[in-house]
Amino acid sequence: MEPIIQMSHIDKTFKVLKRREGIKGSILDLFSREHTLLQAVNDVSLDIMPGEMVGYLGPNGAGKSTTIKMMTGVLEPTKGDILVNGRVPYENRTKNAQDIGVVFGQRTQLWWALPVIESFKILKDIYRIPDRVYKDNLEYYDELVGAGQLYHKAVREMSLGQRTLCDILAAFLHNPKVVFMDEPTIGLDVSMKSKIRTLVSNLNQSKGTTVILTTHDMGDVDALCKRIVIIDKGTVIYDNEIEHLRKYFGAYRTVKFKFKANRKDTKGMVAHEADEIRALLAYKFPEAETLQVTQEEQWVQLLINEEEARMMDVIHSVMEQKEIVDMNLQEISTEKVIQKIYEGGVL
Ligand SMILES: Nc1ncnc2c1ncn2[C@@H]1O[C@H](COP(=O)(O)OP(=O)(O)O)[C@@H](O)[C@H]1O
Ligand SMILES: [Mg+2]
Repeated sequence: MEPIIQMSHIDKTFKVLKRREGIKGSILDLFSREHTLLQAVNDVSLDIMPGEMVGYLGPNGAGKSTTIKMMTGVLEPTKGDILVNGRVPYENRTKNAQDIGVVFGQRTQLWWALPVIESFKILKDIYRIPDRVYKDNLEYYDELVGAGQLYHKAVREMSLGQRTLCDILAAFLHNPKVVFMDEPTIGLDVSMKSKIRTLVSNLNQSKGTTVILTTHDMGDVDALCKRIVIIDKGTVIYDNEIEHLRKYFGAYRTVKFKFKANRKDTKGMVAHEADEIRALLAYKFPEAETLQVTQEEQWVQLLINEEEARMMDVIHSVMEQKEIVDMNLQEISTEKVIQKIYEGGVL
């Protein structure tokens, strides 16, 4: 089988205007525009096979979006060869569009004022989607995530989560071979994230769609991707199965608590909450050697390795001891995992 995406020694360099400081600098800038070169992507080579779901990870500014823009044909590489669906993306933008779908988090591709179903009809015309395929897809979407109740709602009246869901449905509507998703789950709550994971995973499996996903949420990657590629400062630093990295994120969970203040608590005494919880957990879970308790203002934060102590058991113990007024379960960020990989000497 041939790769559906082939990138070979791709560079992308941007020419950026050098800005001088202060008023004098701004005036100088008006007369002479000095440019510097910024290398956003540096010698990236990637082969992606049909049907793969790849997590494309990296810190902010690493070059993820630039890579995706080259794959979709929005940007032309400065150097190197790129083929998507057997075509050079930037030379065949119209033809290429027929075979790809794109989702950019927080930026909708749908018509703002129209009910979603009207946007879908426009897309049906643009992509010449056969009636049968169109109808089947709408039914399938409804079956998967109950999308039917959103079809007649205007996009501007939707929550961010509903809109993102519809954006993803729109991207898959013409049964493209590849779908690119650039931070689709940014700003979404846990239940909407989980709905989106179900949707994308089912679409990938039932249609064999290749998916390239960037995200800061390790939970997304864990739920969807077998393979992850990590890019840092424009260079690929890791390309392998997610399984090899599981020890860096798999068992770790973070939970934050805010407790009801005792009447006698003064501001200075809040710091003792973390000590109190640390002592309690050390007593209740002697095996949990890597458990960390930290405090940031009114929040007490726990980092739990679930191989040592179950999250639910820890929460129960804390609840027995203290009155909780707010609690927040957090996802492990991809940044944290990348940092651990560096520290762990894998790279
Ligand atoms: N159109 C552009 N012009 C100049 N610099 C850009 C442009 N797009 C991105 N960059 C720069 O390229 C680098 C990589 O950006 P990007 O690919 O958006 O990173 P990521 O998506 O991983 O956060 C950043 O330093 C960014 O500022
Ligand atoms: Mg980006």
